[in-house]
Amino acid sequence: MIEQLETRLQEIMDSYKPSKVRDAMQYSLMAGGKRLRPVFFLEVLSSYGVSYEEYLDIACAIEMIHTYSLIHDDLPGMDDDSLRRGKPTCHIKFGEATAILAGDALLNQAMLVILNANIDTELKLKSLQILFDASGVEGMIYGQNLDMESEKKKIDLTKLEEIHYYKTGALISAALEMGATIVDNDNVSTWKEIGMKIGLAFQIQDDILDVTMTSDKLGKNAGSDIANGKATYVKLLGMDASCQEVEKLLKECQSLLSSLTCDNEIYLGIFEQLKKRGN
Ligand code: IPE
Ligand code: IPE
Ligand code: MG
Ligand code: MG
Ligand code: MG
Repeated sequence: MIEQLETRLQEIMDSYKPSKVRDAMQYSLMAGGKRLRPVFFLEVLSSYGVSYEEYLDIACAIEMIHTYSLIHDDLPGMDDDSLRRGKPTCHIKFGEATAILAGDALLNQAMLVILNANIDTELKLKSLQILFDASGVEGMIYGQNLDMESEKKKIDLTKLEEIHYYKTGALISAALEMGATIVDNDNVSTWKEIGMKIGLAFQIQDDILDVTMTSDKLGKNAGSDIANGKATYVKLLGMDASCQEVEKLLKECQSLLSSLTCDNEIYLGIFEQLKKRGN
């Protein structure tokens, strides 16, 4: 699945005319991300026995949006980080102006990738609606806005949960929702709920790894949250309670999953991998 995704992403990149911004997009997009969000989407299809090849372009668009968000998240005006996916961040390698454009371009092209996909028009529109809503000013961008506003401030757990839900949960949830609209339209709301819980657990883990891992292992700057005075679960609840919260959320996902008619094993395997992740 990952290989097909990588191949299709590369084909999409190869279709653009050469330019510095294309090089920067290629550099960040193909730098070895975990591809979690597109895999979540494709695995929803697999878990209902539907072959996913036809829908690879939707998966690629999700990953393009995610990569754009990382390029911008690392910029000096945001988290000001120098390492991403084990390499210098896009702006360190290509300069700030090109990195901004590379992020913009990935966002722009993601829409075209879906519009040009070989799928029916109704599905294109539905996918665009879900993806762009989740990553927009009422989704991920709203979360990034709250994240920045909360730097060096004391906020409560309700607010922190809101930040994490929006900045990370919304896109992960959208990936599952897009899958569910194709294979299990009656249970879209359950898949969305699973997505929000996975998303929150994933961002809590991200907060934990920022403290427990080295930059080498993480492939990004460890300790970035502390350096930026970020509101994180570890800061607010401590390490043990944060780890317990991840466990609790993933258990809740498991029980939601057991109410569905899909092949649960696929998703249970993903939860196990998530629990053990080191980057
Ligand atoms: C990092 O996402 C940003 C967060 C929302 C926590 P990932 O941990 O999925 O990063 P990549 O795609 O594998 O680099
Ligand atoms: C990023 O959260 C969420 C995004 C929408 C990109 P972080 O700022 O914690 O992600 P990392 O740790 O830099 O990957
Ligand atoms: Mg950030
Ligand atoms: Mg960051
Ligand atoms: Mg982080």
